[in-house]
Amino acid sequence: MNDTDVAAGDEQAGSHERQAASGREAATTDETPPRLAGKPLVGNTFEFIRDPFAFYDRLESYGDAVRYSVGGYDFCTFFEPEYVEAVLVEKSDKFVKAEIFRDSAAGFAEQGLVMTEGEQWRDQRVQMQPAFTLDRIQSYADAMVRYAEQTADEFEDGEVVNVDDAMSELTLQILAKSLFDIDVAERRAPVREATAALNERGDASGVSAFLPDWVPTPKNRRFRQGMADFESLVDELLAERRESDGEEYDDLLSLLLDSEGPNGETMNEREIRDQMITFLFAGHETTSLALTYTWHLLGQNPENAERLRAELDEQLDGSPSMFDLPNLDYTEQVVKESLRLFPPAYVIFREPTEDVQVGPYTIPEGTALSIPTFKLHWDERWWDDPDEFRPERFAAEDPERPEYAYFPFGGGPRHCIGMRFAMTELQLTLATLAQRVEFEPVYEGDPELTMAATLRPEEPMEMRVRKL
Ligand code: HEM
Repeated sequence: MNDTDVAAGDEQAGSHERQAASGREAATTDETPPRLAGKPLVGNTFEFIRDPFAFYDRLESYGDAVRYSVGGYDFCTFFEPEYVEAVLVEKSDKFVKAEIFRDSAAGFAEQGLVMTEGEQWRDQRVQMQPAFTLDRIQSYADAMVRYAEQTADEFEDGEVVNVDDAMSELTLQILAKSLFDIDVAERRAPVREATAALNERGDASGVSAFLPDWVPTPKNRRFRQGMADFESLVDELLAERRESDGEEYDDLLSLLLDSEGPNGETMNEREIRDQMITFLFAGHETTSLALTYTWHLLGQNPENAERLRAELDEQLDGSPSMFDLPNLDYTEQVVKESLRLFPPAYVIFREPTEDVQVGPYTIPEGTALSIPTFKLHWDERWWDDPDEFRPERFAAEDPERPEYAYFPFGGGPRHCIGMRFAMTELQLTLATLAQRVEFEPVYEGDPELTMAATLRPEEPMEMRVRKL
């Protein structure tokens, strides 16, 4: 196997350009991807922590695949859609979630669907799938619209709001009502604290992302406290449901409590609690960020906001419903373009369980494979003027663009189980709110971003509300 050490990018950048010119086709070899030279012991850790975005830019200049070492993990990053497809779809049975991902999320819902593997994961996914059918999503649509109407009513004309916080409250209410039939308005604090602590600990520009969770750093302590409070809330909610004898429920929580796996067993207490934590987190934080970035983009691009409102005026008679979605093409394009420019789940981690061939390369067992969604979403090979907000680019399929140049919800068997829920929620809440309010920018330009557990704005996203 070739284990090339590359001290500077030039040589590899040359081969990168050659590959680009030839459509990046390379012969199959048993070579491992080129490796970035690093310092003894620490490898490329400090360069990464100093500026993770600049580090990814540098990696990209080496070609479609490059290896390096950060935080004691042996990494490989892919920038090529075909390799992404091979990992997530074609060869998905040869990969598990990477150790770096499990370590950085240690203590977070370890028995929940995001973290489990093998048969346990498969059984859980089958058990929960009925909560995400088209019929079920349809039954959640009313709550999506109702909470968005309420959010719009609560804004004062002219006030400056933290859009991120307002959208987080909205999406948490929707999620909790739809999947668990719970009103969380008064009990949001533990979810908010745990989400902040998880993001803080996962922040790639700090060493704590690479320290074990038992090291008593302030971030780890806040994370432990946050998770303990989150778990107490979930225990309370579970106890309330169990005490509500006689009432009929038809939601994700009733599936968790009652449905049986292939061996006739229901989920154990730990699994139920971890699923609730998983869904309360994964199901609201991502959609909240997607809405926040969408308001930012519409604020920066008033002509697109105008076009969106023109569509809503033309197609809707009052608030939208699920049945209006097929007529709201531009609304859908706006959501897709926002997820391209600011994908909340910005990187996917995998690890091969044996040496695996991907494209021309052999990826050694145990390599921490990172797939930076945001880099593929911003790649000039597949997107004209990738920095520009142009929802129209989603009006028609581009036959030249590979499928895995765009994958905000992942792909293959472990793609986002909440994808349909999220797309419905994003379109309905965007339409409902855009009929009633407008968010004006208070600051110039794009927000600084942080690579935390999700791709977050570094500072609160403040915007001025104008009621329409
Ligand atoms: C804009 C919104 C969302 C985005 C961008 C997003 C993105 C993703 C991505 C990329 C994955 C795959 C991760 C991987 O392969 O390692 C994923 C998995 C997952 N998502 Fe989402 N998601 C969103 C909304 C939701 C919602 C609304 C829910 C729940 C209602 C949800 C629940 C989950 C769960 C449980 C998994 C793990 C699935 C499994 O491993 O089988 N997500 N999500």
